[in-house]
Amino acid sequence: MKADAIATADPGFVELAVAELAEAPAGVRQLATLEPGVLLLALAESYWALAARWRDRPPVFIRHIQPVQVQLPLPRGDAAQHALRQAIEKELLALVDPSLPFSVQTRLFAELPFRAYDVNTAIAEAVAATGARLDVRRPQQIVSVAIAPYQGELTGFAGLSPAIYNLSDWAGGQRRFAREKGQISRAEFKLLEALELFGLELPPGGVALDLGAAPGGWVRVLRQHEQFVTAVDPAELHPSLAQDSSVRHKQMTAEAYLREGPDQFDLITNDMRLDARDSARLMVAYAPYLYAHGRALMTLKLPEERRENVLDHAFNILREAYEIEKARQLFHNRSEITLLLRPLQRRTAAQER
Ligand SMILES: C[S@@+](CC[C@H](N)C(=O)[O-])C[C@H]1O[C@@H](n2cnc3c(N)ncnc32)[C@H](O)[C@@H]1O
Repeated sequence: MKADAIATADPGFVELAVAELAEAPAGVRQLATLEPGVLLLALAESYWALAARWRDRPPVFIRHIQPVQVQLPLPRGDAAQHALRQAIEKELLALVDPSLPFSVQTRLFAELPFRAYDVNTAIAEAVAATGARLDVRRPQQIVSVAIAPYQGELTGFAGLSPAIYNLSDWAGGQRRFAREKGQISRAEFKLLEALELFGLELPPGGVALDLGAAPGGWVRVLRQHEQFVTAVDPAELHPSLAQDSSVRHKQMTAEAYLREGPDQFDLITNDMRLDARDSARLMVAYAPYLYAHGRALMTLKLPEERRENVLDHAFNILREAYEIEKARQLFHNRSEITLLLRPLQRRTAAQER
Protein backbone atom coordinates (compact mmCIF):
# COMPACT_ATOMS: atom_id res chain seq x y z
CA MET A 1 0.00 0.00 0.00
CA LYS A 2 1.30 3.46 -0.91
CA ALA A 3 2.20 5.61 2.10
CA ASP A 4 1.93 9.41 2.23
CA ALA A 5 3.96 10.30 5.31
CA ILE A 6 6.20 9.10 8.12
CA ALA A 7 5.63 10.53 11.61
CA THR A 8 8.09 10.18 14.48
CA ALA A 9 7.58 10.37 18.24
CA ASP A 10 9.38 9.20 21.37
CA PRO A 11 8.78 5.41 21.60
CA GLY A 12 7.56 5.85 25.18
CA PHE A 13 4.87 8.31 24.08
CA VAL A 14 3.55 6.64 20.94
CA GLU A 15 0.06 6.28 22.40
CA LEU A 16 -0.21 10.02 22.89
CA ALA A 17 1.24 10.63 19.42
CA VAL A 18 -1.33 8.26 17.89
CA ALA A 19 -4.08 10.14 19.76
CA GLU A 20 -2.82 13.35 18.14
CA LEU A 21 -2.95 11.70 14.73
CA ALA A 22 -6.51 10.57 15.40
CA GLU A 23 -7.45 14.17 16.22
CA ALA A 24 -5.92 15.51 13.01
CA PRO A 25 -8.81 16.10 10.59
CA ALA A 26 -6.66 14.64 7.85
CA GLY A 27 -8.05 11.11 8.00
CA VAL A 28 -4.81 9.46 9.07
CA ARG A 29 -4.36 5.69 8.81
CA GLN A 30 -1.39 3.91 10.36
CA LEU A 31 0.07 1.41 7.86
CA ALA A 32 3.06 0.12 9.83
CA THR A 33 5.57 0.82 12.56
CA LEU A 34 9.01 1.05 10.94
CA GLU A 35 10.70 1.18 14.34
CA PRO A 36 9.23 1.95 17.77
CA GLY A 37 8.00 5.55 17.49
CA VAL A 38 8.30 5.72 13.69
CA LEU A 39 4.91 5.42 12.00
CA LEU A 40 4.17 4.93 8.32
CA LEU A 41 0.92 6.70 7.45
CA ALA A 42 -1.66 6.98 4.71
CA LEU A 43 -3.52 10.29 4.63
CA ALA A 44 -6.99 10.97 3.25
CA GLU A 45 -6.08 14.59 2.59
CA SER A 46 -2.75 15.82 1.28
CA TYR A 47 0.48 15.91 3.27
CA TRP A 48 0.60 19.65 2.65
CA ALA A 49 -2.75 20.31 4.28
CA LEU A 50 -1.71 18.39 7.40
CA ALA A 51 1.77 19.90 7.50
CA ALA A 52 0.43 23.45 7.04
CA ARG A 53 -1.99 22.95 9.93
CA TRP A 54 0.75 21.54 12.14
CA ARG A 55 3.08 24.33 11.18
CA ASP A 56 0.69 26.78 12.82
CA ARG A 57 -0.33 24.54 15.72
CA PRO A 58 2.31 21.82 16.13
CA PRO A 59 1.36 18.61 17.90
CA VAL A 60 2.98 18.01 21.29
CA PHE A 61 4.20 14.45 20.88
CA ILE A 62 4.80 14.07 17.14
CA ARG A 63 8.27 15.42 16.72
CA HIS A 64 8.81 15.12 13.02
CA ILE A 65 6.93 14.35 9.82
CA GLN A 66 8.12 13.80 6.30
CA PRO A 67 6.22 13.27 3.08
CA VAL A 68 6.49 10.07 1.06
CA GLN A 69 6.39 10.89 -2.64
CA VAL A 70 8.66 8.07 -3.77
CA GLN A 71 8.14 4.50 -2.57
CA LEU A 72 9.80 1.51 -4.17
CA PRO A 73 10.97 -2.02 -3.36
CA LEU A 74 14.75 -2.16 -3.17
CA PRO A 75 17.20 -4.90 -4.08
CA ARG A 76 19.42 -6.26 -1.31
CA GLY A 77 22.99 -5.09 -0.85
CA ASP A 78 24.63 -1.98 -2.24
CA ALA A 79 22.28 -1.97 -5.21
CA ALA A 80 19.58 -0.63 -2.85
CA GLN A 81 21.36 2.68 -2.59
CA HIS A 82 21.69 3.06 -6.35
CA ALA A 83 18.05 2.13 -7.02
CA LEU A 84 16.88 4.68 -4.48
CA ARG A 85 19.10 7.41 -5.87
CA GLN A 86 17.83 6.77 -9.39
CA ALA A 87 14.20 6.97 -8.27
CA ILE A 88 14.86 10.21 -6.39
CA GLU A 89 16.64 11.69 -9.40
CA LYS A 90 13.72 10.76 -11.63
CA GLU A 91 10.88 11.88 -9.38
CA LEU A 92 12.08 14.49 -6.93
CA LEU A 93 14.88 16.52 -8.50
CA ALA A 94 12.48 18.53 -10.69
CA LEU A 95 10.79 19.71 -7.48
CA VAL A 96 13.99 21.07 -5.91
CA ASP A 97 14.20 24.88 -5.74
CA PRO A 98 17.79 25.64 -6.80
CA SER A 99 17.71 28.99 -4.96
CA LEU A 100 17.13 27.44 -1.52
CA PRO A 101 19.63 25.62 0.73
CA PHE A 102 18.84 21.93 1.19
CA SER A 103 19.79 18.95 3.28
CA VAL A 104 19.33 15.21 2.87
CA GLN A 105 18.24 13.24 5.93
CA THR A 106 18.38 9.47 5.82
CA ARG A 107 17.17 6.98 8.39
CA LEU A 108 17.87 3.28 8.02
CA PHE A 109 15.58 0.83 9.77
CA ALA A 110 17.18 -2.35 8.39
CA GLU A 111 20.55 -4.11 8.42
CA LEU A 112 22.33 -2.72 5.35
CA PRO A 113 25.87 -2.74 3.99
CA PHE A 114 25.98 1.08 3.90
CA ARG A 115 25.37 3.90 6.38
CA ALA A 116 22.87 6.75 6.41
CA TYR A 117 25.83 9.04 5.82
CA ASP A 118 26.62 7.26 2.52
CA VAL A 119 23.05 7.73 1.28
CA ASN A 120 23.06 11.38 2.37
CA THR A 121 26.28 12.00 0.48
CA ALA A 122 25.16 10.29 -2.72
CA ILE A 123 21.78 12.01 -2.82
CA ALA A 124 23.20 15.38 -1.81
CA GLU A 125 25.51 15.13 -4.79
CA ALA A 126 22.53 14.58 -7.09
CA VAL A 127 20.54 17.46 -5.54
CA ALA A 128 23.53 19.82 -5.67
CA ALA A 129 23.64 19.26 -9.44
CA THR A 130 20.43 21.38 -9.62
CA GLY A 131 22.45 24.34 -8.31
CA ALA A 132 20.95 24.23 -4.79
CA ARG A 133 23.42 24.67 -1.91
CA LEU A 134 23.84 22.01 0.79
CA ASP A 135 23.30 23.40 4.33
CA VAL A 136 22.67 20.70 6.91
CA ARG A 137 22.28 23.15 9.80
CA ARG A 138 19.79 25.58 8.25
CA PRO A 139 18.13 23.86 5.32
CA GLN A 140 15.04 25.39 3.77
CA GLN A 141 14.15 22.26 1.82
CA ILE A 142 14.81 18.69 2.89
CA VAL A 143 14.99 15.41 1.03
CA SER A 144 13.93 12.86 3.65
CA VAL A 145 14.82 9.23 3.04
CA ALA A 146 13.92 6.09 4.95
CA ILE A 147 14.74 2.46 4.20
CA ALA A 148 12.80 -0.22 6.05
CA PRO A 149 11.24 -3.63 5.61
CA TYR A 150 7.59 -3.13 4.63
CA GLN A 151 5.11 -5.80 3.58
CA GLY A 152 7.87 -8.39 3.28
CA GLU A 153 10.16 -6.30 1.07
CA LEU A 154 13.02 -3.93 1.68
CA THR A 155 11.44 -0.61 0.77
CA GLY A 156 12.74 2.89 0.09
CA PHE A 157 10.65 5.94 0.99
CA ALA A 158 11.56 9.49 0.05
CA GLY A 159 9.99 12.91 -0.01
CA LEU A 160 10.94 16.53 -0.57
CA SER A 161 9.43 19.25 1.61
CA PRO A 162 10.09 22.78 2.81
CA ALA A 163 11.82 22.40 6.20
CA ILE A 164 9.00 24.33 7.88
CA TYR A 165 6.67 21.47 6.93
CA ASN A 166 8.67 18.82 8.83
CA LEU A 167 8.11 20.06 12.44
CA SER A 168 11.89 19.91 12.93
CA ASP A 169 14.94 20.67 10.78
CA TRP A 170 16.59 17.44 11.97
CA ALA A 171 16.17 13.85 10.78
CA GLY A 172 13.33 12.35 12.81
CA GLY A 173 13.48 15.44 15.06
CA GLN A 174 16.74 14.18 16.56
CA ARG A 175 18.44 17.44 17.45
CA ARG A 176 21.85 16.48 18.77
CA PHE A 177 24.32 18.86 20.37
CA ALA A 178 28.02 18.28 20.85
CA ARG A 179 29.11 17.83 24.47
CA GLU A 180 31.03 20.90 25.53
CA LYS A 181 33.97 21.24 27.86
CA GLY A 182 32.63 22.64 31.13
CA GLN A 183 29.15 21.22 30.58
CA ILE A 184 27.46 20.71 33.93
CA SER A 185 24.52 18.45 33.09
CA ARG A 186 22.80 16.71 30.18
CA ALA A 187 19.78 18.88 31.02
CA GLU A 188 21.59 21.70 29.20
CA PHE A 189 20.62 20.09 25.89
CA LYS A 190 16.93 20.44 26.80
CA LEU A 191 17.25 24.17 27.27
CA LEU A 192 19.36 24.61 24.12
CA GLU A 193 16.83 22.62 22.10
CA ALA A 194 13.88 24.56 23.55
CA LEU A 195 15.48 27.96 22.85
CA GLU A 196 16.15 26.92 19.26
CA LEU A 197 12.85 25.20 18.49
CA PHE A 198 10.71 27.87 20.18
CA GLY A 199 12.81 30.70 18.67
CA LEU A 200 13.17 32.30 22.11
CA GLU A 201 15.60 35.22 22.13
CA LEU A 202 17.34 36.13 25.38
CA PRO A 203 18.63 39.70 25.06
CA PRO A 204 21.91 40.14 26.98
CA GLY A 205 21.48 41.68 30.43
CA GLY A 206 18.12 39.99 31.04
CA VAL A 207 17.18 38.90 34.53
CA ALA A 208 16.30 35.22 34.87
CA LEU A 209 14.95 33.07 37.66
CA ASP A 210 15.77 29.35 37.44
CA LEU A 211 13.61 27.14 39.66
CA GLY A 212 15.05 23.69 40.37
CA ALA A 213 18.44 24.88 39.16
CA ALA A 214 20.86 22.31 40.58
CA PRO A 215 23.39 21.20 39.56
CA GLY A 216 23.31 24.24 37.27
CA GLY A 217 23.25 23.18 33.61
CA TRP A 218 20.49 25.62 32.72
CA VAL A 219 22.23 28.33 34.76
CA ARG A 220 25.35 27.80 32.66
CA VAL A 221 23.36 28.11 29.41
CA LEU A 222 21.59 31.24 30.71
CA ARG A 223 24.96 32.73 31.62
CA GLN A 224 26.23 31.97 28.11
CA HIS A 225 23.32 34.16 26.96
CA GLU A 226 24.53 36.85 29.39
CA GLN A 227 21.56 36.64 31.73
CA PHE A 228 21.76 37.54 35.41
CA VAL A 229 20.52 34.41 37.15
CA THR A 230 18.79 33.74 40.46
CA ALA A 231 19.12 29.99 40.91
CA VAL A 232 16.66 28.42 43.36
CA ASP A 233 17.30 24.89 44.60
CA PRO A 234 17.91 23.33 48.03
CA ALA A 235 20.69 21.27 46.42
CA GLU A 236 24.25 22.49 45.76
CA LEU A 237 25.20 24.15 42.49
CA HIS A 238 28.27 23.00 40.59
CA PRO A 239 31.44 24.63 42.01
CA SER A 240 32.21 26.21 38.61
CA LEU A 241 29.28 28.59 39.19
CA ALA A 242 30.41 29.70 42.66
CA GLN A 243 32.81 32.40 41.42
CA ASP A 244 30.28 33.93 39.04
CA SER A 245 28.98 37.17 40.56
CA SER A 246 26.07 37.19 38.08
CA VAL A 247 24.67 34.01 39.66
CA ARG A 248 22.83 34.24 42.97
CA HIS A 249 22.04 30.90 44.59
CA LYS A 250 18.96 30.84 46.80
CA GLN A 251 19.54 27.53 48.53
CA MET A 252 15.91 26.81 49.34
CA THR A 253 12.77 25.44 47.74
CA ALA A 254 10.75 27.44 45.22
CA GLU A 255 7.97 27.58 47.82
CA ALA A 256 10.34 29.15 50.37
CA TYR A 257 11.65 31.73 47.89
CA LEU A 258 8.07 32.71 47.12
CA ARG A 259 7.50 33.41 50.83
CA GLU A 260 10.68 35.47 50.92
CA GLY A 261 9.33 37.76 48.18
CA PRO A 262 11.02 37.34 44.80
CA ASP A 263 12.24 40.12 42.52
CA GLN A 264 10.85 40.84 39.06
CA PHE A 265 12.15 38.78 36.12
CA ASP A 266 12.32 38.78 32.32
CA LEU A 267 12.43 35.00 32.24
CA ILE A 268 11.41 32.24 34.63
CA THR A 269 12.66 28.75 33.88
CA ASN A 270 11.54 25.69 35.80
CA ASP A 271 13.01 22.21 35.53
CA MET A 272 11.93 21.10 39.01
CA ARG A 273 11.52 17.41 39.62
CA LEU A 274 7.98 17.76 40.82
CA ASP A 275 4.50 16.47 40.03
CA ALA A 276 3.30 18.33 36.91
CA ARG A 277 0.28 19.81 38.71
CA ASP A 278 2.30 21.03 41.71
CA SER A 279 4.85 22.53 39.37
CA ALA A 280 2.05 24.26 37.41
CA ARG A 281 0.59 25.70 40.64
CA LEU A 282 3.97 27.09 41.59
CA MET A 283 4.34 28.70 38.17
CA VAL A 284 0.96 30.38 38.61
CA ALA A 285 2.11 31.69 42.00
CA TYR A 286 5.26 33.07 40.34
CA ALA A 287 3.42 34.76 37.44
CA PRO A 288 3.17 38.16 39.20
CA TYR A 289 6.98 38.21 39.37
CA LEU A 290 7.32 38.06 35.60
CA TYR A 291 7.40 41.33 33.65
CA ALA A 292 4.52 41.70 31.17
CA HIS A 293 7.00 41.23 28.29
CA GLY A 294 8.53 38.20 30.00
CA ARG A 295 8.34 34.51 29.22
CA ALA A 296 8.40 31.32 31.25
CA LEU A 297 9.89 28.05 30.07
CA MET A 298 9.17 24.88 32.01
CA THR A 299 9.29 21.13 31.84
CA LEU A 300 6.26 19.14 32.96
CA LYS A 301 7.13 15.71 34.29
CA LEU A 302 4.62 13.09 33.20
CA PRO A 303 3.77 10.00 35.24
CA GLU A 304 3.68 6.47 33.80
CA GLU A 305 -0.09 6.31 34.02
CA ARG A 306 -3.00 8.65 33.31
CA ARG A 307 -0.64 10.98 31.48
CA GLU A 308 -3.34 12.67 29.43
CA ASN A 309 -5.37 13.51 32.56
CA VAL A 310 -2.35 14.86 34.39
CA LEU A 311 -1.38 16.92 31.36
CA ASP A 312 -4.88 18.38 30.92
CA HIS A 313 -5.04 19.21 34.60
CA ALA A 314 -1.62 20.91 34.58
CA PHE A 315 -2.55 22.89 31.42
CA ASN A 316 -5.78 24.09 33.04
CA ILE A 317 -3.91 25.24 36.13
CA LEU A 318 -1.35 27.12 34.02
CA ARG A 319 -4.08 28.84 31.99
CA GLU A 320 -5.12 30.77 35.12
CA ALA A 321 -2.03 32.92 34.64
CA TYR A 322 -0.48 32.10 31.26
CA GLU A 323 -1.16 31.57 27.63
CA ILE A 324 0.52 28.31 26.60
CA GLU A 325 2.40 29.52 23.52
CA LYS A 326 4.23 26.29 22.72
CA ALA A 327 4.17 22.77 24.10
CA ARG A 328 6.43 20.08 22.63
CA GLN A 329 8.09 16.91 23.62
CA LEU A 330 11.68 17.66 22.69
CA PHE A 331 14.22 15.10 21.60
CA HIS A 332 16.07 15.73 24.88
CA ASN A 333 12.95 15.41 27.02
CA ARG A 334 12.54 12.01 28.60
CA SER A 335 9.31 11.50 30.58
CA GLU A 336 8.35 15.13 30.24
CA ILE A 337 7.39 17.88 27.83
CA THR A 338 8.58 21.48 27.58
CA LEU A 339 6.30 24.54 27.55
CA LEU A 340 6.78 28.17 26.60
CA LEU A 341 4.40 30.42 28.53
CA ARG A 342 3.39 34.04 28.10
CA PRO A 343 1.92 35.75 31.18
CA LEU A 344 -1.68 36.91 30.83
CA GLN A 345 -1.75 40.68 31.03
CA ARG A 346 -2.40 41.42 34.67
CA ARG A 347 -0.89 43.68 37.23
CA THR A 348 2.55 42.42 38.20
CA ALA A 349 3.71 42.28 41.80
CA ALA A 350 5.83 45.38 41.13
CA GLN A 351 2.81 47.37 39.89
CA GLU A 352 0.82 46.35 42.93
CA ARG A 353 3.45 47.59 45.36
C1 LIG B 1 16.31 17.75 36.82
S1 LIG B 1 17.03 18.63 38.13
C2 LIG B 1 17.33 20.17 37.37
C3 LIG B 1 18.50 20.15 36.45
C4 LIG B 1 18.89 21.54 36.01
N1 LIG B 1 17.92 22.12 35.11
C5 LIG B 1 20.24 21.53 35.31
O1 LIG B 1 20.30 21.91 34.15
O2 LIG B 1 21.24 21.18 35.94
C6 LIG B 1 15.67 18.92 39.18
C7 LIG B 1 15.95 19.77 40.39
O3 LIG B 1 14.71 20.16 40.96
C8 LIG B 1 14.95 20.43 42.32
N2 LIG B 1 13.66 20.57 43.03
C9 LIG B 1 12.71 19.63 43.25
N3 LIG B 1 11.70 20.17 43.95
C10 LIG B 1 12.01 21.48 44.17
C11 LIG B 1 11.37 22.57 44.83
N4 LIG B 1 10.19 22.42 45.42
N5 LIG B 1 11.99 23.77 44.84
C12 LIG B 1 13.19 23.94 44.24
N6 LIG B 1 13.84 22.94 43.61
C13 LIG B 1 13.27 21.73 43.57
C14 LIG B 1 15.82 19.24 42.76
O4 LIG B 1 16.54 19.56 43.93
C15 LIG B 1 16.70 19.05 41.51
O5 LIG B 1 17.97 19.66 41.72
